[in-house]
Amino acid sequence: ITVYVPRDASALSLGADAVAKAIQAEASSRHLDVNIVRNGSRGLYWLEPLVEVETPAGRMAYGPVQPTDVLGLFDADFLHGGDDVLKLGPTEEIAWLKSQQRLTFARMGLVDPRSLDDYLAHDGYRGLTAALEMEPAAIVQAVIDSGLRGRGGAAFPTGIKWKTCLDAAAERKYIVCNADEGDSGTFSDRMIMEGDPFVLIEGMTIAGLAVGATHGYIYLRIEYPHAQRALEAAIEAAKARGYLGDDICGSGKVFHLEVRMAAGAYICGEETSLLESLEGKRGQVRFKPPLPAIQGLFGKPTVINNVISLATVPIILDRGAAFYRDFGLGKSRGTLPLQLAGNVKRPGLVERAFGLTLRELIEEYGGGTASGRPVRAVQVGGPLGAYIPASKLDTPVDYEAFAAIGGMLGHGGVVVFDDTVDMAAQARFAMEFCAIESCGKCTPCRIGSTRGVEVIDRIVAGDRAEKARNEVLLRDLCRTMVDGSLCALGGMAPFPVLSALDHFHEDFEGARQRTA
Ligand code: NAI
Ligand code: SF4
Repeated sequence: ITVYVPRDASALSLGADAVAKAIQAEASSRHLDVNIVRNGSRGLYWLEPLVEVETPAGRMAYGPVQPTDVLGLFDADFLHGGDDVLKLGPTEEIAWLKSQQRLTFARMGLVDPRSLDDYLAHDGYRGLTAALEMEPAAIVQAVIDSGLRGRGGAAFPTGIKWKTCLDAAAERKYIVCNADEGDSGTFSDRMIMEGDPFVLIEGMTIAGLAVGATHGYIYLRIEYPHAQRALEAAIEAAKARGYLGDDICGSGKVFHLEVRMAAGAYICGEETSLLESLEGKRGQVRFKPPLPAIQGLFGKPTVINNVISLATVPIILDRGAAFYRDFGLGKSRGTLPLQLAGNVKRPGLVERAFGLTLRELIEEYGGGTASGRPVRAVQVGGPLGAYIPASKLDTPVDYEAFAAIGGMLGHGGVVVFDDTVDMAAQARFAMEFCAIESCGKCTPCRIGSTRGVEVIDRIVAGDRAEKARNEVLLRDLCRTMVDGSLCALGGMAPFPVLSALDHFHEDFEGARQRTA
């Protein structure tokens, strides 16, 4: 009997290893034969550790399971789908999961991340098989036609980036995966790398074929040791079976792949500091142009894409650009893996076509706030994203709709706050974060962020006249940072600050009565 216990980092932090051990021990003592597979998380984080059992009626879910629950589960005959208070029913029928449109996350939680055979049995490497039959320009065109935009945050069309690199003549080119996932409340990159690493490897290999790159690097944040282990095991397995190396699937095509551990700085997620860091230098932002697609790693044309962008490529090549494009709306095509976090009852990974509203996400999937109090603000797109007030919760998840309300979708992180949040403190945090993480290369960010913290402190503490004077100064400083910063860190840190000032002004006035 096969039992699935996630090895996902969040599930581990909630005791998944101890649960797996307890199941093994109990099965041994009862002389029962169980095969425990350590899968990725299904993304229903409030139910982790979520244990699944393979039954003739499909997988049956139980959760959240603690080691002390295991005896009771065996007594309830959970190995045959027996009833228990922790029983959630067939996994695929859980409404939270069933209503999702999982394309990039199609295999998440289904497969054993260490098994290439399991990956192949679940449609793995079909995209690469198709790509091996195509000319590079046709692969690039398929990605352009799919409408896929960069899921790291900037939403630049992935296929156009690839075309720039394809058109750049050079004897060597590189594919770099930006796996330095650093936005607050985000975890989709981590989930893919831990739960379905082969899909990222396949996507990078396809990217290599598309632009003529023979070497790839995954720049992985140092805080993701489980992802590192999963990726390295998957790379070895892919190499051993001819899916990576000097002769991919007997085609004579070459692609080599390595994992490089990041330096542990937020700014190393910015593509040019990432390249500096990968080259062994201090992670400092480079001037653009030249674009990395033309002159990137070691001065060679380089495609840098986020994990989710690359992991989405295999399904596009397998099912066709039109299939992928059919999801979504306007210029936001396909699906977005949203990461629901902060003050919500049911946090987790929600992959849906663009177009659902923030309210649907927070109320229907999230179940409202964990505290039961009203939602007051939502920060979408990481620490540089604007705070969206509750009055704008009906905004659809769509790049343009978010831009129209002064926000951004970024990497799809959604952090919810209830009405006890102090928005002046949140604004101060944005400037403080920028001051701590600034690479120091340009003045508006390096100096501006520190002055920003001081000015916000003066607004909060000052009398009416001082508040007014300093607010003018703060808005002026924000404008200078937006216009004058070299990269997105200094250029976007003012957005959460300005949104807090515009939508939650009362928090700077000291006038808001807070009720506990
Ligand atoms: P950008 O808009 O300057 O560039 C986007 C991408 O398109 C880059 O890779 C750039 O090289 C490429 N590009 C632009 N024009 C091109 C052309 N003509 N041909 C080929 N490639 C071209 O944005 P940037 O500074 O790279 O990223 C900023 C974003 O990063 C923010 O919007 C934010 O959401 C996101 N971000 C994400 C984080 C995460 O943890 N995922 C953390 C921090 C920021
Ligand atoms: Fe460095 Fe900040 Fe300037 Fe970016 S904006 S280059 S992080 S100093």
